[in-house]
Amino acid sequence: MLLTPGPVPVLDEISKAQCKDMITHRCPEFSALYKDLVERLKKYYNSKEAYVITGSGALGLETLILNLCKKEETTLCFQNGYFGEKMVETVKVYSNAEVKEIEGGKGWNLERTKDAIDSSDASAVVILYNETSYGLTNQIKEICKYAKSNGKVTIIDGISGWPGIEVDMKNFGIDGFVAGSQKAMGAPPGMALLGLSKDAIDLFTSRDDIPAYYANLRRHKKRYEKDQQTPNTPAITLFWALQKAFDVLDKRGGPKECAKQHADIAAHTRTRLTEMGFDMIAEEGFRSNTVTGFVCKNEKQAKNIRSKLLADYNIRIVGSRGVFKEKGLRIAHMGNFNPKDIEVALDAIEKIIKTLA
Ligand SMILES: Cc1ncc(COP(=O)(O)O)c(C=O)c1O
Repeated sequence: MLLTPGPVPVLDEISKAQCKDMITHRCPEFSALYKDLVERLKKYYNSKEAYVITGSGALGLETLILNLCKKEETTLCFQNGYFGEKMVETVKVYSNAEVKEIEGGKGWNLERTKDAIDSSDASAVVILYNETSYGLTNQIKEICKYAKSNGKVTIIDGISGWPGIEVDMKNFGIDGFVAGSQKAMGAPPGMALLGLSKDAIDLFTSRDDIPAYYANLRRHKKRYEKDQQTPNTPAITLFWALQKAFDVLDKRGGPKECAKQHADIAAHTRTRLTEMGFDMIAEEGFRSNTVTGFVCKNEKQAKNIRSKLLADYNIRIVGSRGVFKEKGLRIAHMGNFNPKDIEVALDAIEKIIKTLA
């Protein structure tokens, strides 16, 4: 049983959607497929435009950054974990990064970011929605709304969040958003789902140059407007899987309902772990819907739980990162999870800690 924070188990119907006779991406059938994905993604995100990029989440985030940030300008980065560090590394390639950091387990909210936003001359703000390494969700709605009202472009790494955590780009004030296909979306890895606001489009269509070829969004926009195709050969089979994953999402009641289901399973997971005596890694008010990070008594207990889960129950969970690398463990409850599986894993952890005691 795979309870790692992406890739997540893929439902048979989503997997099997890939098994069709191949088509060329230069045919009306592909245009219809891609148009369906783009139009649905625009509605889900409430964005002006959307694109599916063939590549992993990191390529999606890099695409947003290189199209929306500039070398000669400053980009304000709020980071609080391992993937935040990767985000900063990416920003540094394309812009002058101004980095704000808080200790592991603490989340970013408006109160903690306001002074930096007020005093910075940055043209863009970049932050993670869901810091997967700790199971922590930053309060991006208030931050983006405020940053946007201060004239800044807002970019969100929502790779391990959406649709397990709600997003409404227009109402949250988000200019560029990316989710990964292999996480809460429950599709196979290999696609980055991008959303863009009107301000983001105005920016990347009017700036002098964009330091990329494949990831240049002007090429994606131009080709989509011409015939609803992609500029280069996309992972067509994965696009079929994504279409099926969107069908499953709709059947579940859409992204809002999906986020609620994730919130419920996360709350249940935290309750059970707390009853077993574990502390959560993320502070109260910032705990993730899609992955729960918890602190073990010591490194030995963390190692034992993880190895026994795999050896005796065939359940795979992962350790934490950063300051919780030794003592922290994480259980993912993202995508098309079966609540019974999470229960089995929690029961197994309870049994293991009793035998270790
Ligand atoms: C928050 C976050 N950002 C970025 C990434 C990198 O995504 P990928 O491995 O799909 O490139 C991950 C992967 O786990 C992530 O959780």
